[in-house]
This record gives sequence, structure tokens and C-alpha cells, in this order.
Amino acid sequence: MAITLPSDVGQSINLTDLVGEARERYAAQRPNSEAAHHRALAVLPGGNTRSVLHFEPFPFRVVEGRGAELVDVDGFRYIDYCGNYTASLIGHRPARVRAAIEEVLDRGWALGSPHEAEIELAELLCARFPSMDAVRFTNSGTEANLLAIATALHHTGRRGVGVFDHGYHGGVLSFGDFGGPHHPLNAPHEFVVARFNDIDGLDELFSHELGCVIVEAVQGSGGCRPALPEFLHALRRRCSETGTLLILDEVMTSRLGPSGAQGLFGVMPDLMTLGKYVAGGLSFGAFGGRKDVLANFDPASGGRLTQAGTFNNNMLSINAAVATLRYELDDNELAEVNARGDRLQEQLSAAFGRAEAPMWVTGLGSMLCVHAKDARVLELYFHAMLDRGHFIARRGFMALSKLITDAHTDALVADTSAWLSDMQVSGLRTATP
Ligand SMILES: Cc1ncc(COP(=O)(O)O)c(C=O)c1O
Repeated sequence: MAITLPSDVGQSINLTDLVGEARERYAAQRPNSEAAHHRALAVLPGGNTRSVLHFEPFPFRVVEGRGAELVDVDGFRYIDYCGNYTASLIGHRPARVRAAIEEVLDRGWALGSPHEAEIELAELLCARFPSMDAVRFTNSGTEANLLAIATALHHTGRRGVGVFDHGYHGGVLSFGDFGGPHHPLNAPHEFVVARFNDIDGLDELFSHELGCVIVEAVQGSGGCRPALPEFLHALRRRCSETGTLLILDEVMTSRLGPSGAQGLFGVMPDLMTLGKYVAGGLSFGAFGGRKDVLANFDPASGGRLTQAGTFNNNMLSINAAVATLRYELDDNELAEVNARGDRLQEQLSAAFGRAEAPMWVTGLGSMLCVHAKDARVLELYFHAMLDRGHFIARRGFMALSKLITDAHTDALVADTSAWLSDMQVSGLRTATP
């Protein structure tokens, strides 16, 4: 039984009305979130300070995270499939990270001096990621990418920066439907945008003089689009041939295996960046890579670059990151969460396929994204899952945490299938003109 493509539905079934009803139902159940939203609108433009968190009619406000769950101000509990857009890989309030934070609270956290934990973290990261000979810390993934790009341009003495359509490297490095090369907030670099996964298109990209190319092995915010391995290998080759530095943005993808996407795809970048889950949910970023490139920050080696940042080595994030890497992320757990994500992708794809729904799933491992041909169908699915206690990101994105179990994903798949049959019963299928 097929759900009619919304484009075929025409006026006979009003998806817009269904979306309106879903929003009204959602709003009626959440008076506290609604009141908070109105309060926020007066002082936070759009009611938030992180645009992606907004959805219509207003986002629920959280009070608590517990393991795999979020709890909101109206008392609703959700299994957190959004996972803070990959940052909650180890779940909410992980015990060993909490212990590390408490230990820092006893000693002080804004000490403005080098300490030993930053050395330990650098050692852990350099041991973990093959391309990381040396590393420097930042406060976010965006900052890590900005610094990696600036470092690469300084090192090569060139100005061009190769990027890909749908690439997202931070709010000021955004090249998708959500912005394009001329996104008004983008950093003022000389970006050259090429098509992701288009090996032939690399000829045009490399006809420009580039200091670096930055790429994700799975475009996360761009809709969980995995790179073709041969595309990454071709990119690596072209970079080497032209003296262009390859920056692998592993802010999201480093969760895909013990040595990140570089291990999984067998691609060694010159520089790589990190963020998201590494500090167990605290703010964090890092850029690192080839020793000769990072030596630009070492005056003893003739380096002329300095990197400022009041909170670069803040005690809370650095110690939380050490605890995350040492105790919360063993290789088996990482393998498990990624295998579970692959299974979930297969199961959801099968459910959409069986229903002949105009919806599909992309991704790799624990990063996946549900898509729909019509944006209203995706919004209906989002609200339907929220009604049933599954919080996926409004745009369909999911990043599993290691605390999400097979029982959770089985329930999500079952609820998806039930919703798909409800949609058919409610007449979407029969509404073909
Ligand atoms: C691939 C990628 N790079 C960089 C960033 C930016 O990280 P942050 O939000 O910590 O600045 C993100 C955030 O979503 C990301 O997905």
C-alpha cells in the first residue's frame, strides 16, 4: 500500500492541515514550554541562541537529561535520538565524566595556567588518531575548523579554500541549502565550492590555487551523506599532487570508529578537527595533524603563529575529555553503537520501502537522517515520533548514544511502521488525483 507522493496529492489531501493539527496537538500539551518560548522571544531573537534548536510551533524546553532520555518542563520524557547532534554519544550525565568534573570543582577551574591534564588529553588524542602528530585545543568545532583553515593557508602561503556543497563546518563555514558559499555569516575566505562525491568535478576544483580543502567523510548537517571511499582517495591524491593540505572535519565522524573516519575510510588527512562528544558533552574543539604544519605554533621551530583563547585549556572540558576517552568510550562500545545505527537505518529503510512511502534514510553507523520528498511529511513524522516519545531532530537527523538499546530502536521502528499505516488509513494513499 503506497502513501501517495505529496506532489501527487494536490489539493485533495491537505498536508498543511495535518501539519497544523500536529502543531496544535503538540502545543496544547506543552503549556510550560509555550510560556517559556514567549518569554524567550522578548530577549533572544527567535527565542533561542542556537538556531537549529528551533522548530514550529516552539521547541520543548528541557530540564534534565538522564542516560538516553530527555525530560522537558511539561514532564514529557523522550528517548534522545538527536543526541545533541552527535555531542551526546556517551549519554547524559555519564558517571565517569561527572566524577572528573566534581574532582575539578574541588581544585578550581579557571586557573589561567598550563596544567598536566592538557598534556594527557593531547597524548590520548595523538595515540587515537593516526593523522594527529600534534594537537591544539579550542572551544568548539567551528573554532577548530577556522583555525585549521587559517593554519593551512599560512603554511601554504595560498588563499583558496576548497569546500563541498552541503558541507557544514560550523555556523560561519556553511555550504548547503542552508547557506551556500555566500552565506552572509560565512568567514570571508576565498571559497571554491565543488560537488561532493563528484570525482570528475575535482578537475575544476583543482584548477584553482588552493591552500586547503576541507571535507567531512559523512556530511552530517548536510543530511548524513557518506563520502564514496574512492572520492576521498581521489581528493587525497589531488591534494598531495598540488601541495594542498587536506583537512578532514571529524567533528562528527570521529565517532564512527576507534580512529575516526580516517581509519574507516583509510584516508590520512594533513589536518583534522574534533569537537562534539569528545569532552563528554562540555564545550570542546581541537585541531591537529602533521607535525611540520603544527610547528607553525612552535617558536622554537621558527613558528610565527600564536593561538589565543581564554578557555582553550579550561579544566572542566579538558578533564572531562580525558575521562571520556579513558573510561567511557571503549572500542567495543563504539563498534556496538555504530552497528546499531546501521541496523536502524536498514530497518527504517525497510519500513518506508514496505509502505512505499516517499521517505528514505541515509547515513553511516550511528549517524543517520530520515528524508522525505515533501517537507510537510517529514514534519508530520517528526511530530508523530515526538508524540510517541522519540525525539529525532526536526530535520530528521539522528545520532545514537551508546545508551540507546535495541529495545529503544525496535520501539522506534515499530512506531514508524504504525504511523506509516495510520497515514495510509487517513487517506494519503487514496487521495491520488
Ligand atoms: C562536521 C561539523 N563540523 C563543525 C561543526 C561545528 O561545531 P560547533 O557546533 O562545536 O562549533 C559541526 C557542528 O554541527 C559539524 O557538524
